[in-house]
Amino acid sequence: MKHNDLGFASKIGVIAATVGSAVGLGNIWRFPSVVQSSGGSAFLLVYLGCVLLLGIPVMLAEFSIGRAGRSDAVGVMKNLTPGKKWWILGVFGLLSSYLILPFYMVVAGWSIEYLYQSVTGSLFAGIDFSADTAANSAVFTANMNEFITSATKPVVWTYVMILLNLFILLRGVRKGIEKLSNVLMPILFVILLVFCGISLSLPNAAEGVEFFLKPDFSKVTSDVVISALGQAFFSLSLGMGILVTYSSYFPSDTMMTRTATTVAVCDFFVAVLMGLIIFPAVTSFGLADTPDGLNGTTLVFVTLPGVFTQMAGSQIWAILFFALLFVATITSTVSIAEVSIAFLRDRFKLSRTASCLIILLPLFVTSAICSLSLGAIPELQIAGLSVFDFLDSFTTNILLPISAIGICIYVGWVLHKNFIRDELTNYGAFDSWAAPFVQFLVKYVCPILIIAILVSQLVHLFNQ
Ligand code: PFF
Repeated sequence: MKHNDLGFASKIGVIAATVGSAVGLGNIWRFPSVVQSSGGSAFLLVYLGCVLLLGIPVMLAEFSIGRAGRSDAVGVMKNLTPGKKWWILGVFGLLSSYLILPFYMVVAGWSIEYLYQSVTGSLFAGIDFSADTAANSAVFTANMNEFITSATKPVVWTYVMILLNLFILLRGVRKGIEKLSNVLMPILFVILLVFCGISLSLPNAAEGVEFFLKPDFSKVTSDVVISALGQAFFSLSLGMGILVTYSSYFPSDTMMTRTATTVAVCDFFVAVLMGLIIFPAVTSFGLADTPDGLNGTTLVFVTLPGVFTQMAGSQIWAILFFALLFVATITSTVSIAEVSIAFLRDRFKLSRTASCLIILLPLFVTSAICSLSLGAIPELQIAGLSVFDFLDSFTTNILLPISAIGICIYVGWVLHKNFIRDELTNYGAFDSWAAPFVQFLVKYVCPILIIAILVSQLVHLFNQ
């Protein structure tokens, strides 16, 4: 059964929308914070290993079933293995994506508040531009904490974000998602490059670069490996049906190995650029020793505004950066929501409008719960964590890897022997040295490695 929606119109659209999905809060907000909490230099190479050995093969497995099955995340399994229960795997991905949306929308909402504050100039209220950054960072921190833990403002911005998503998603794949990504993604890359140049020219930048880039294997622990794995899946949008859904919109002559490599390289490149923006700034302004530790939220909403105060034209830079953050989040939120929307449309034959409303309206409640759990109603907890933090770590570190194992087993062992090899060569249209290699990775290496990492993490948790 085919979609009743048009697919992507062009190859550029395929790349832009898929990179748009991949590049998001995962790169800008989450990556620097995971690097920081993993001790810096231990992380990057482990992360690169996860992207190359696990991320790209799982991405290709998802692309293959999506384009061959031409349906939603559940429907592809029904089409490829009719009469079998493998579609449950799709439901799992669907649920993961639906659990990620609430907290993701909240952080996306923060990006609009900061963009708004940058435009009005209120971001710099109470800031003494001639003072040192440490003094200013106390002001930024206080403002951020007050905003994030407030009961109304972040919820209102989250609602604005949900409505924007609704507007784009109602327009469909070609006129909504593809058009948006084609315009916004190139802008995002240019802004990032400019910031990177500025950050690297700050005094003491080299110390930050060393913290980020100089490998230190003595710091590699099982926690670092599981964080790198979760981060790779989160950042590449894997394990939740997003890429299955997007690839069902791919034209049938798409060269998927090239697409996957381009997406992974762009995604990695943005994460590295973010590291090269943030860490030199942190060391340059002596923020590394801040007593409350630096999490992703602080890095983005305190450290960077601190950097902007040191630059001529602070307000313009702030506007550019938060516009960038906003762009990255919106192309990602639409991709996460599209999974469930495609599911409702294809499975239950609902109209696009009805599907969008059914998926997005409940977010007005679930996102509000996530936002309020950060301070306004601290009782909103699961397993000792705020609902927000619980959903973040449970989905990223547990659900996404489990879902990826399922996909590898499905593609490597359940579908016919040469399925992925055939898909990657467009059924013999061209030769590909990578195809048999990817087939081997998906069949043996990925499931075994991901299972090993998950088990070692569980053992570690029990021993604590
Ligand atoms: N890959 C995007 C990001 O890194 O922000 C969006 C995203 C997709 C986030 C899938 C999380 C996720 F599980």
